[in-house]
Amino acid sequence: MNISIIGAGYVGLVTTACFSELGNKVICIDNDTKKISLLKKGVIPIYEPGLEEFILKNLKNKRIKFSSSIKEAVNNSQVIFIAISTPALADGEADLTGIENIARNIALNMTGYRLIVEKSTVPVETGQWVKQTIQIYTKDKIKFDVASNPEFLREGSAINDFMHPDRIVIGVESKRARDILVELYKPLKAPLVITDIKSAELIKHASNSFLATKISFINAISRICDKVGADVVEVAEGIGLDKRIGKAFLNAGVGYGGSCFPKDIDAFINISKKIGYDFELLKIVKKINEEQKEFFLQKIKDTLWILKDKTIGVLGLSFKPNTDDIRNAPSIDIIKALQNEGAFIKAYDPYAMEKARLILDKVRFCRDAYEVCKNSDCLVIITEWDEFKELDFLRIKRLLKRPLIIDGRNIYEPKAMEKLGFRYIGIGRKTPKYLNE
Ligand code: UDX
Repeated sequence: MNISIIGAGYVGLVTTACFSELGNKVICIDNDTKKISLLKKGVIPIYEPGLEEFILKNLKNKRIKFSSSIKEAVNNSQVIFIAISTPALADGEADLTGIENIARNIALNMTGYRLIVEKSTVPVETGQWVKQTIQIYTKDKIKFDVASNPEFLREGSAINDFMHPDRIVIGVESKRARDILVELYKPLKAPLVITDIKSAELIKHASNSFLATKISFINAISRICDKVGADVVEVAEGIGLDKRIGKAFLNAGVGYGGSCFPKDIDAFINISKKIGYDFELLKIVKKINEEQKEFFLQKIKDTLWILKDKTIGVLGLSFKPNTDDIRNAPSIDIIKALQNEGAFIKAYDPYAMEKARLILDKVRFCRDAYEVCKNSDCLVIITEWDEFKELDFLRIKRLLKRPLIIDGRNIYEPKAMEKLGFRYIGIGRKTPKYLNE
């Protein structure tokens, strides 16, 4: 099929790469002309495993074209996906100015039937507004359909998530729109959930909120574990093996971050309020998540006592492993708070340092974990990159001023670390030797 993707961000680029890989001709549009000219040369602005390979391959065989012209996109495609970001306004409400603009521009360039598909995460009823906007600007003279097809891609595994989805959600109002999308996704052989547009829009917000709720739930349990000396990893395993609960998203830590969960939870609280429902549960989910960072800071303070003039070594800056994304990364708030107390920060991340340099001041960025540890008063883990799981701990112990590890992602086994001679503090982990010290 000939399709267009409007927006060359994470979602737009991954969608472009994967649809072209599946044999479609894709035009990817962005109004950032600098980004587009780099993409034309094969320079990918983000790190996402597998993305570059797909884009380079399909640029070469001419299945992908990058452009800044919506007119070109509308003229040459039957299906147009909107995959632009919907940033949060000051009160958490999603800013839909971009979506409205694009809907208008699509309408003004339409000459015949088009299917316009929302892929961005948008409040329920946005599809209705997109439809009205297009109707107004085409003066009701041209046939079109609007559909909702939310993405569930996780950064770091987005290509794999696209190619092997748990389900594909298709929200449509006509058989024609339904048939086009079913055909487009046929090669993926995934379960389809075909529903109306509003339900599809809600599925996206509801899934992200549910996942965030799972994380805050286990983080709340971790606090109880810390108080009574139980182990949250074992508790999570015990509850997660119940198939009704499931093991995923039960890792306690410094809280969720990223470009989706924090923004989507705010937006959902806001949408609910607007339509007359006070989503108290989600407010608490958000509160627990915010507190989790403070709780982690307190652990560092309780161990180091005075932070002024202490050197703290930090491993991991991205909001999760396998991405260079630091949007809403817990590392940023934690590092800034430590600096406010007078601590000096040394940090290392395999991919996110370039982006972190633009946000963090006075941090010494190091070339590896060992340089971070050299003469630091403690080692703090904020992101669970695989390479941090297998370090030379004897070397680490020699390099640190004192053998102290505070692990915000529970990547090590407390007993093993203690055996190696470390004082080890995790989140809700059983560390009886030190808890009552
Ligand atoms: C999320 C959704 O998973 C995806 O479906 C949606 O399309 C976009 O938002 P993403 O933000 O890429 O994806 O990351 P995800 O893997 O969901 O993790 C989000 C945050 O939760 C990260 O900060 C991660 O560290 C944290 N997390 C996740 C936990 O703290 N504990 C867990 O058990 C799982």
